[in-house]
Amino acid sequence: MTVREEIEQLKREKDAVILAHYYVRPEVQELADYIGDSFSLSRTAVGLKEQTIVFCGVSFMGESAKALNPEKTVLMPDAHADCAMAHMADPEKISRVRETYDDVAVVCYINSTTELKRYSDVCVTSANAVQIVRALPNKNIFFIPDKNLAHFVAEQVPEKHFIFNDGYCPVHQQMKTEEIRKAKALHPRAEVLSHPECTKAVLDMSDYVGSTSGIIKYAGESSAHEFIICTEDGVLFELQKRYPEKKFYFTDTEPVCEDMKLITPEKILHVLKTGENEVIMAGELCEESRKPLEEMLRLAK
Ligand code: 13P
Ligand code: SF4
Repeated sequence: MTVREEIEQLKREKDAVILAHYYVRPEVQELADYIGDSFSLSRTAVGLKEQTIVFCGVSFMGESAKALNPEKTVLMPDAHADCAMAHMADPEKISRVRETYDDVAVVCYINSTTELKRYSDVCVTSANAVQIVRALPNKNIFFIPDKNLAHFVAEQVPEKHFIFNDGYCPVHQQMKTEEIRKAKALHPRAEVLSHPECTKAVLDMSDYVGSTSGIIKYAGESSAHEFIICTEDGVLFELQKRYPEKKFYFTDTEPVCEDMKLITPEKILHVLKTGENEVIMAGELCEESRKPLEEMLRLAK
């Protein structure tokens, strides 16, 4: 039997379903029942009929799926796949901000630890952050952990006062304007499509800014035929699958999230066989981190 056949058989035997983020390897995306960005995957995770979810992504994604479905088994193909940005905020700073501002909402990018979520009022993803922040009744917004997404949202929602945090995604932060300019010089007709985790300098030279799903959708709707993609290179698989007639380019320093690339078909097979790397969360932590996630799903409707 091939690895794929074994996985399919075990999925049936264990009543399992595979979810994968667009940033994982193509061979993993090919095995997934659902592929998506962070928002669509967290929405999908709610209401699945299968008892076991194999989450091909980094730890905050598996933890969010578990918090939203405490009665389900969530398995991570690689327990070390983590998001560096998820740790870049401090619960003590949250308390200090809450003491300083009385009308404040702590808005937590889903790319964050469970510990940070439990102290937050609402989660957001790059696909819904503007919509949700706009809908909040609070004047003051403490946006954690990502400073780049925070500044992008602040620009779209000028009526709110933002308190910024110093986190960032190392993969998107390293995207350089000179390299984008160089790609533009090589492909002058190409549009620049960027993820809001990139710096303001990159976003300012972009034709479109949006979540991973937003970028994929925009590339289909645009009349342009060439695009410079300023996000993790895993999206190329879906872009080429959907739009084989269009061309996609990356900067010389290709944006790669090494943690996302830890997931392999063999590791999926292993956790399905053994049940290893199950996401375990203490009841209280699970419940407290579920609240901001559910608030996100409610406000993003
Ligand atoms: P989205 O899935 O919201 O586009 O976010 C990108 C990301 O960095 C996921 O880790
Ligand atoms: Fe985290 Fe950046 Fe990797 Fe996304 S791409 S998982 S934000 S380190």
